[in-house]
Amino acid sequence: MKIPHPIQYQGSKRVLASTILRYLPNRFPRLVEPFAGTAAISVACAARNRAKSYWINDLNKPLMELLGLIINHPAEISNFYETLWNQQHDDPIEHYYRVREDFNRTGDHRLFLYLLARCVKGSVRYNTEGLFNQSPDKRRHGARPETMRENILGVSYLLKGKTIISSLDYKDVLLNVNKDDVVYMDPPYQGVCGDRDSRYFSGILHDEFVMALAELNTRNIRYAVSYDGRTGNKTFGNCLPKNLSLTLIELEAGRSSQATLLKRDAITVESLYLSPQLAEEVAALPYFHRKRKTEQLVLMESRGR
Ligand SMILES: C[S@@+](CC[C@H](N)C(=O)[O-])C[C@H]1O[C@@H](n2cnc3c(N)ncnc32)[C@H](O)[C@@H]1O
Repeated sequence: MKIPHPIQYQGSKRVLASTILRYLPNRFPRLVEPFAGTAAISVACAARNRAKSYWINDLNKPLMELLGLIINHPAEISNFYETLWNQQHDDPIEHYYRVREDFNRTGDHRLFLYLLARCVKGSVRYNTEGLFNQSPDKRRHGARPETMRENILGVSYLLKGKTIISSLDYKDVLLNVNKDDVVYMDPPYQGVCGDRDSRYFSGILHDEFVMALAELNTRNIRYAVSYDGRTGNKTFGNCLPKNLSLTLIELEAGRSSQATLLKRDAITVESLYLSPQLAEEVAALPYFHRKRKTEQLVLMESRGR
């Protein structure tokens, strides 16, 4: 199945989406993504028609405004990107810096699509004043307008009319989820850059996050969290504590963005934790998902924490 993806974004769960979706119920009323980024899981879920509706949230407001345009006004944003992309040919680098300056001055989120398509590794970086300061990727010119249009129309087709978008802090989202919802959380990696992660507008505090999960447990909310992981023998991020009674699924992610970030050749393994309610519903046990040509499940003993 070809899943559309207009926005390249470091940390996107696009590659792991089909494995993650195995751990969500077959059909459910609403998927909520409090740390949506490019909403890779919502898009993949919609492509399989698994949820009736979607709530996509991320603190990064321009990103959510851009996603809103992609979903609700696909032709407008495709045309805008095409014009901007075509203007870059005389001097692509100079053009990028001009667009970046315009974006920081005006906050026009339409410009953000071009910057994301052109910046180094699709990785958003902000300075201390909150201005976007990532450099252009000198080897690539960004997706061709016709490819971009196809991806934008694909996402719009999947999510238009059934999605709400917001840019709240994740805690405000969690206060408003209910028992019908399935919540997928992919917070910024802690441990690599610390709790205040310069790749995003904000980071999260581990203890606060653990408290929020405990609260969801008491409300019997179904949720899954991508959190810590390991590259070779080195773990990144704090593990989630045992007293949350989560089921740990480990996903071999290959040389993911984390491996690149850590400048190692070792394979990266990412943790996916399932809430008690969700694990029970989908009858999940702790597993290690090996990445193979014919993907295979290997039963694994829990990591003993
Ligand atoms: C690892 S990325 C999510 C990537 C996403 N799963 C995807 O496939 O594109 C983490 C996201 O959390 C967002 N974020 C950071 N702090 C947040 C907060 N306090 N509340 C909500 N979102 C936050 C960042 O803006 C970032 O987009």
